[in-house]
Amino acid sequence: MLICIPDVLSKHDVADFRRIMDAEEWEDGKSTAGAQSAEVKQNDQLPPDSKVSRELGKRVVSALTANTLFISAAVPLRIFPPLFNRYVPGKFFGSHVDNCIRGDYLTGMRIRTDLSVTVFLSEPDEYDGGELVVEDTYGEHKVKLPAGHAVVYPATSLHLVTPVTRGTRYGSFFWVQSMIKDDHARRLTYDMDNALQKLVDRLGRNDDEVRKLTNIYHNLIRYWAEV
Ligand code: NI
Repeated sequence: MLICIPDVLSKHDVADFRRIMDAEEWEDGKSTAGAQSAEVKQNDQLPPDSKVSRELGKRVVSALTANTLFISAAVPLRIFPPLFNRYVPGKFFGSHVDNCIRGDYLTGMRIRTDLSVTVFLSEPDEYDGGELVVEDTYGEHKVKLPAGHAVVYPATSLHLVTPVTRGTRYGSFFWVQSMIKDDHARRLTYDMDNALQKLVDRLGRNDDEVRKLTNIYHNLIRYWAEV
């Protein structure tokens, strides 16, 4: 399941991020790549342990965890400290695997990467190319979103970023361990939550059937969640 989440960061936040990032030294993105992805990764990255990365990362995480669409879609247990990258013309990230387990040296956090997240920090008209392409059983999905919007997709999928041919593509990317490991089960709770919210709008929370369906929703989470 691939879900786009609009307006995670405001345009004002994005401008602030870009101002802060542009004043930083960037390093080769291979520093956080696994053995396979390092061979196809051509981009720049803010040093992951730098103060700026951590502070901007905290702002991304607090915006996302306040976003009901993200919570419903990801049911997050742990969120890896966000990383920041940029692609200037000629840079790309070929088809690759995201490592299944990631550890963070500074916090000691260790997560199973169930979901990958990209928050776009450039407007689509600022660069050419640079599409995120996610492969799943239904084929390839190309994603290029307005600045401040995020895409959440299964970390189990092969994915790539096409070469940038003009301008610079800035983004934040990271991983989430979900309380619900199984992508199919998580899809069911997400779909049910969406339908329930619409029923609540029409009938209220204390309609008899809405209350029963809400109970079933919570029981499904209870059944599948590992916390
Ligand atoms: Ni990746």
